[in-house]
Amino acid sequence: MSPPAPYYQDGQVTLYCGNSLELLADHADLLAAEAIVTDPPYGEISLAWDVWPDGWPGLAAAAAKSMWCFGSMKMFLRHFDDFAGWRLSQDIVWQKHAGSSPAADRFRRVHEYALHWYRGKWREIYKEPQREPNPVSGMKVGSVSHRRSGTAPHLGGLGPSTYLYDGTRLVHSVIPARSMRGRALHPTEKPPQILAPLIRYSCPPGRVILDPFPGSGSTLAVARSLGRRAIGIERDERYAEIAARRLSKHDPNGPA
Ligand SMILES: C[S@@+](CC[C@H](N)C(=O)[O-])C[C@H]1O[C@@H](n2cnc3c(N)ncnc32)[C@H](O)[C@@H]1O
Repeated sequence: MSPPAPYYQDGQVTLYCGNSLELLADHADLLAAEAIVTDPPYGEISLAWDVWPDGWPGLAAAAAKSMWCFGSMKMFLRHFDDFAGWRLSQDIVWQKHAGSSPAADRFRRVHEYALHWYRGKWREIYKEPQREPNPVSGMKVGSVSHRRSGTAPHLGGLGPSTYLYDGTRLVHSVIPARSMRGRALHPTEKPPQILAPLIRYSCPPGRVILDPFPGSGSTLAVARSLGRRAIGIERDERYAEIAARRLSKHDPNGPA
């Protein structure tokens, strides 16, 4: 089967309108990427598109060796077997300013997860640990800092035990970001503030991010704004059109 013509294309982004299960199965070479950053249908709400595409993580393995996948704990546990062959490196929590759960008999749910999966050797996976200004340390910038001995190799190689403090710290794994309510182009749109650190972490400038479930194209727009290339496959033509319009002009929801 020949690949569909792109629904939208510019110098950095290619968007297909189609079924990503079919494209991943038949044209993984076209979709090759440094990393996948995606927000699949969780299968938890009553909208027609919200059906878990069976087996997609296995098919996605043909396109990339590194993958950030948004989801709920229920979603990951229910579909855990679909991630066979992928290894889990870490999880981050998107802390929302307001909850999304209508259930009144539980804690108000104000978070979602993004899990980072990889295949092959960890040392061969591109990763750029994200740093931010440290608001709590009393240390002076430029002073010598000592890490506790014994923390380095088995925890992923933290590096030398003595270094010059530069006023920054590793970005924490709980990341607050306002949800898109009121300004959203898609019912489950992800804000740029949660997508940007995942894209920067897993893909160098100039390389490709793949999103097999891009909805309104948030991942594609943020990747482009960060100097990465991006490929998306959206099945629902309404959302492919919204994404194409968003990409063809300045993205009002993109980072400055
Ligand atoms: C959770 S939404 C993604 C929303 C997106 N993060 C955003 O910011 O707009 C998942 C999207 O995947 C699309 N989708 C579902 N099954 C698909 C499939 N098999 N192939 C391609 N897209 C699919 C749905 O139409 C929906 O727009």
